[in-house]
Parts: sequence; C-alpha cells; structure tokens
Amino acid sequence: MSKTYNIAVIGGDGTGPEVAQEAVKVLLAAAAKHDFSLEFTDFDFGGERYLETGEALPDSASDEMRTFDSILLGAIGHPDVKPGILEKGILLRLRFELDQYINLRPVKLFPGVETPIKDKGPAEIDYVVVRENSGGLYTGTGGFSMKGTEHEVAVQSMVYTYHQVARCLKYAYEYAAKRGKKSRGVGSENTLGLCGKTNVLTYAYDLWERVFIQMGEKEYPDIRRDYYHVDATCMWMVKNPEWFDVLVTGNMFGDIITDLGAMTQGGMGIAAGGNINPDGVSMFEPIGGSAPKYTGQNVINPLAAICAGAMMLDTLGETEAAAAIETAVADVTGTKLEGMAAGRMGYGTTEVGDLVADHF
Ligand code: IPM
Ligand code: MN
Repeated sequence: MSKTYNIAVIGGDGTGPEVAQEAVKVLLAAAAKHDFSLEFTDFDFGGERYLETGEALPDSASDEMRTFDSILLGAIGHPDVKPGILEKGILLRLRFELDQYINLRPVKLFPGVETPIKDKGPAEIDYVVVRENSGGLYTGTGGFSMKGTEHEVAVQSMVYTYHQVARCLKYAYEYAAKRGKKSRGVGSENTLGLCGKTNVLTYAYDLWERVFIQMGEKEYPDIRRDYYHVDATCMWMVKNPEWFDVLVTGNMFGDIITDLGAMTQGGMGIAAGGNINPDGVSMFEPIGGSAPKYTGQNVINPLAAICAGAMMLDTLGETEAAAAIETAVADVTGTKLEGMAAGRMGYGTTEVGDLVADHF
C-alpha cells in the first residue's frame, strides 16, 4: 500500500496562499507519479486572523502541527500589522516550539536564471547553508533599563549552548557527507565551511569553532573543514561561490548571508528553505516575504514555494519525487521563463505551476 502524508498548509499573508497553492499542485502531481498520497489541511494563521482575533497563533497550534507529517508555509507579513508581531508570533514561535533547529537554505542557480554575479553560472553557484535556527541572537536574553533616558541601556545577547551548537554541527557534517559535491569547487573533498566571527565574538564563535574542529577530527575525518569570518563569507559568496559546498553558521549570520545567497541565485522568487527538526515536524517555506503589493494579481513567482515543496518531500524520504521536481523546475527555468521577478516571468503564477506540474 502506498504511503499517505498529512501536510499542514499555512498559506499566510499577501501572496503566500497563491504560491502555496502552486506548490500543492506540483506536489500532488509528483505524488501521483511516484506512488504516494498527500492530504492537505489548511490553516488560516496570518495577519487577517490576527486583525480579527488579536491572536497571532492559538496556543494549541504547535500541538496541532505535531500531528502532521510536515508543514508548508506560504509567507507571513501583513501591511496593517506592526512589524515583528506576526514574525515573532507565528513564524519564529513555530520554529522554536517545534524545535526546528536547522534552517536549511540551498543557494542554487538554476539553468537560465540570471545572476548578478558576472561570469558565474549553475556550476559555480551551488551550495547549501545550514543556518542554526533555535538560538543565538534570536533567543538570547535581553532587555532595556532606563528606557527613554539618556542613560538607556539596551541588551540583546548572543547565547549559544554546547547542545545547540553540537546538534547543528552534527546535522551539517552529516549533510556534507551525504551531499557529495566531489570534484566540484576547489578541492575534491566534501567540505563543510564554518562561517563565524572568531576575531571579535570570542565567546560564542569560539565555542562553535572548538566543537566544529573536535567533531570533525573525531567523527568526520574525511570531510574537509574550512573556516570563514562572516564578512569574508559575504565577499567569497560573490567572488568565489564555487568554493562552497556546505556552510554552517549561527542564526543571525545565517539569516543575513542567505539573503545575499538568494540574490546570487536569482532572487527571492526562487529561494527556498526548510525549518527542520530531524526528529520532529519540519516546516518548508519560500524565504521571501508576503509581497502584499502583488497579492491576487497572478504575477508572483511560485518557484521558491515549489522548491520548498521538493525539500519537504526530500525530508520525508521521497527523494526521487523531490529530485524530479527539481529537474522539472530546472527545465522550466532553462527553457521557458523570461525572468524570476514578479510580473517578469513571461507567464502568470498559475501557469508557472502548470508548467512544472506538466512534467509529471
Ligand atoms: C527569514 C526571515 C525571518 C528571520 C523573519 C521574518 C523573522 O527573515 O526567515 O529569514 O529573521 O528568520
Ligand atoms: Mn531572513
């Protein structure tokens, strides 16, 4: 009997529901061809619900999400809601409560997609960032004292525990071992690069570097280790992206460098990510925002959401179907689309979904 996966869909705000719908379309097409089933259940978490109820997320949400095999998220962010409320109240809350401690963000230039980096193509821009997703500046302690006075103190601390660092590095090493970018890039080995700032953040990234080296020497002697400061990482991501295979970093740096990475792979329209709890329920999303001004116009690029769907299948173990979606996306970018930006694809949102789904 073929397997059935239950998927929670949080379309969210703005263009989120539109792109999620195209991802669902492609996932269903892939499932039919690869002999498994998908059941989707919609949730209305987002700005509209918040404006009506005053509640970003019901307290029961995480427990409810735990009953699903995976979560597909469109986008969170509403123009009438103060920045921070929905981001923290929905997206970050789900990431933390479901302990999705890995944020996996491939930086992959698909064929036919324009990159702002001169002389680099799909062979050079193809690596994965493993962003720690549970700690650091995002969950460190902080607060104000003497707020509003000339003596105001604001603290926001980067806090990392050994446990958080070790589990993230473990995932990153395992990922580098299985990814196998052999013979590409600089060397011929699988490589894990640590992106830190050991010259200034001499506590938090000292811990990262020590565990990185200890774990690598002891458990992953065949994986080559590189180290880059975060500022230099930005430089090399533009100058020599082919150096990278798998990069691992803390939460804040990972947030920042993956926006840069997204631009080098053709923009937010194509950049996908996964919030992963390897032992629990994971959540997949296009990494761009809700793009409210394009809502309902059928112009937004659904490929990031579709690629997020592929990552979801990969994580569920449906690796062949996941790879087939990627191949279909590569064909669509390589032979059909004029551009990645909203309104510049040469096709509408639903047509792009159809083009990918028609490969199955
Ligand atoms: C991302 C976003 C979020 C983050 C925001 C919306 C809280 O920028 O997914 O990268 O900072 O993680
Ligand atoms: Mn971000």
